[in-house]
Amino acid sequence: MDRKVKTVIIGMGRMGRLRYDALKRHGGFEIVAICDTRDSNLDGFAERKFHDWQECLESVELDAVIVCTYNAFIPEIVCSALKRGYHVFSEKPPGRNVADTLTMKAALESSGRILKFGFNHRYHNSIIEAKALVDSGLLGDIICARGVYGKAGTVNFESEWRNDAELSGGGILLDQGIHMLDLMHYFLGEFSSVKSVVDTLAWSGIQVEDNAFAIFETDRGQIASLHSSATQWHHRFNLDIVCTNGCVVLDGLITSTRSYGEERLTYYRKDLNAKTGKLGRPSEHTLCFTEDFSWDIEIKEFHDVLTGAKPLRNGTIDDALYVMQMIEQIYAAGRRGGN
Ligand SMILES: NC(=O)c1ccc[n+]([C@@H]2O[C@H](COP(=O)([O-])OP(=O)(O)OC[C@H]3O[C@@H](n4cnc5c(N)ncnc54)[C@H](O)[C@@H]3O)[C@@H](O)[C@H]2O)c1
Repeated sequence: MDRKVKTVIIGMGRMGRLRYDALKRHGGFEIVAICDTRDSNLDGFAERKFHDWQECLESVELDAVIVCTYNAFIPEIVCSALKRGYHVFSEKPPGRNVADTLTMKAALESSGRILKFGFNHRYHNSIIEAKALVDSGLLGDIICARGVYGKAGTVNFESEWRNDAELSGGGILLDQGIHMLDLMHYFLGEFSSVKSVVDTLAWSGIQVEDNAFAIFETDRGQIASLHSSATQWHHRFNLDIVCTNGCVVLDGLITSTRSYGEERLTYYRKDLNAKTGKLGRPSEHTLCFTEDFSWDIEIKEFHDVLTGAKPLRNGTIDDALYVMQMIEQIYAAGRRGGN
């Protein structure tokens, strides 16, 4: 494609606006329309406006659709856009369950178009550097990974659409833990077993889980553990990747609100020489990142795929399906009664 990609955004809430800004910064997209059921979310934009996504897709000449609605509407919009011959970038999660994701996979396969999902954590600086470090072999082979992703919650937490099972399909694991699961899949590959506990421990007014604990094992005996929490009472992101000759520790995640703290990558190599006096405190190397380029890198990758410059490597339908299957296994293996 040697012209700008004519694009519409459906869902102009927080993510729709964030994607809008990234498309504008990129410059290779022309936003031809925006759509939201709520008038107030369309105010202040100069583009053509729609309240009904079907009318929007029927009325506008376009190449690509960006889907940023509530989870429940993602599969129908994605399938409809693909069937009309448009490329699609959709927010995560890929629908509410595996069945939704399989429906989108079938629509994709018969469309010959591009479908990419917004697993944007792969594009954070600390993740990019950690992946390069682990892949370089400097630290040896991965033994295990330990991830914590926690939210503080808000005054309106219980009434948010995210905690309405019909609209979201699940709780904190599907909303936020899914990013950590995607990273574990990214670093460790496929898992062969899952143990879990999933419960609603403190938010009495919600129908979905506020905590999920899971332990996975690969065929090669590597272990990954995850705690996804809406009762951290503080925003928190931590991922340790422990290898045979060293360790990478990711702490914090740069976001627009800076509420997850600074984004730091620390790594150190095994040092068993007690004579150096460093036993237990090997030399550490720390990188600290203060800017979030993840949205820009992700949109650039989408554009590169549309123009044929690169193949689609991240956020594929198979990545999406794999992570949804992990989530369904976690739910099936560990769901308890709630508070
Ligand atoms: N990639 C990430 O890191 C990330 C972060 C946050 C949210 N998300 C995902 O992005 C999506 C949107 O989340 P958000 O935080 O922007 O929520 P939000 O509530 O801020 O925005 C959702 C918007 O979609 C609109 N909408 C809902 N149904 C619609 C429909 N049928 N047609 C048109 N508009 C519709 C709503 O009016 C609202 O403006 C969710 O799927 C969420 O899981 C991804």
